[in-house]
Order: sequence, then C-alpha cells, then structure tokens
Amino acid sequence: MNGEKMNRQAWTVYGQYQLDRGFRTPDPVQIHWGTPGDAGPDTGVLGGIGGKRLLDLGCGGGHYAAHLARDHRAVVDAIDVAPTQYQRALLQYVDVPGVCFLLGDAVDHLRRCEPYDLVYSVHGLGYLHPHRSLPALHRGLRPGGRLVFSVLHTDLHGQPPSSSLETRQLTVQLKGLEPQDVHLWVLSPQLWEDVLIDHGFTVEAIDLLHRQGDDPVVDQLIQARRA
Ligand SMILES: C[S@@+](CC[C@H](N)C(=O)[O-])C[C@H]1O[C@@H](n2cnc3c(N)ncnc32)[C@H](O)[C@@H]1O
Repeated sequence: MNGEKMNRQAWTVYGQYQLDRGFRTPDPVQIHWGTPGDAGPDTGVLGGIGGKRLLDLGCGGGHYAAHLARDHRAVVDAIDVAPTQYQRALLQYVDVPGVCFLLGDAVDHLRRCEPYDLVYSVHGLGYLHPHRSLPALHRGLRPGGRLVFSVLHTDLHGQPPSSSLETRQLTVQLKGLEPQDVHLWVLSPQLWEDVLIDHGFTVEAIDLLHRQGDDPVVDQLIQARRA
C-alpha cells in the first residue's frame, strides 16, 4: 500500500471509531494550529476573511471550517479524503450556512476547482507529497492568494525534521485504537521554504509552536502566498 493510501485508511479507521462512540468535537472559538489547548497564534493569522472563499484541506470533523463560516462569515469548502471523517463533518455541521463539505482527495479537487482566496490546513498537508500538493495548490489559489498551514516540526517521537524531501513512516496511537501506520512529510523550515519557492510561492512566515508541558512535539505554522 502506498503512503497516501495508508494515511487514508488510518484516518478512516479513526473516523469510524469516533462515529461508533458518537463523539462530537466541541465547537472551537479559535483555530489551534498546534494542538487543542495550546496558546499559540489563532484564527487571527488568517486576516480578514469575511466573504472570502476558503478551502480547508484535510478538514477532519469539520469544526474549523464551521467556525470560520459561522464566526467569521467566510465561505468555506472543506475537504477530507477519509469517508468516515466526511460523515462526521456532515453529521455535526451540515446545517451551518457558508460551509460545504466535500469527500475526496484535495489534490484532485484543487486541479479543477474555481481558485480560492485562501487555503488553510491544520495538520492535513503533511500527509501529502509536496511535489503533488504544491503544484495543485498553486493552481487552486488565485494570484496573491494565501496558503496557511500547520505541520509537524518534530515527529510524534520528538525526532527532528528532515532536511531532504523524504517521507517517514510513523506509528501513531489514535485514541482508543490499535496503533495505525501513517506516512508523513516532517520537513525542516528551510526545506519547506525551498519547495514553496520552487512552486511559485513567497514565504511570509514560518513559526515554531511549542506544546505545553514536556510534550516533545513541536509544530510549524507556515504562511505563504501565491506569487
Ligand atoms: C491530523 S487530521 C487533521 C484534521 C483537522 N484538520 C483537525 O485539525 O482536526 C488530518 C486529516 O487530513 C486528511 N487527509 C489526509 N490526506 C488527505 C488528502 N489527500 N485529501 C484530503 N484530506 C486528506 C485525513 O483524512 C485527516 O482527516
């Protein structure tokens, strides 16, 4: 099984688990780019988004898309490749005006969509090969459109990021489930900057987000713009 199929399977298993136990994500009042409860940058990094067209890449249960549509009057498409994650989003947020949930691969969607003003992703983009996702993101954003996303900086075992473009297989223990294998791109800030520039983006900021307590995981928040 290739890495992206493995990721879809892991998230499908996770979504089914949440459906089976009837879990509903608490409605967020802000985006947590690192982990829920962190004290880092929030929804504000997206700037003024009222009336703008956004894509949430790898929306999971859909809570951030619903938050931006409901609390910031953004017009949000939210896509996830795992059918059970899509079902969770529909179950909880289908009635929120201004948000539209889509099931499918984000890259396929970006290759044929009407270009967005802004694409954001909270820990979704790291599951996609940058050579596949970034050309599609360039195509799927209007000129000057923004790309804002968080990814792992150190992996789930605290290992540092890679300075070459390689995926790593990780075993993650999703709440209450057997360990699941996933493939992730855990890249250094310099490498993210290089690949973004190579694909026609300007990089505006890359911040490291440290989690609370003695959690060894560090996240990156990357803000870029289609040049
Ligand atoms: C770590 S979860 C994050 C979910 C959500 N953004 C959040 O913050 O709770 C990553 C999500 O990305 C989705 N994903 C992975 N590859 C994808 C792809 N190619 N297209 C769309 N979604 C994808 C997974 O199914 C999963 O729901």
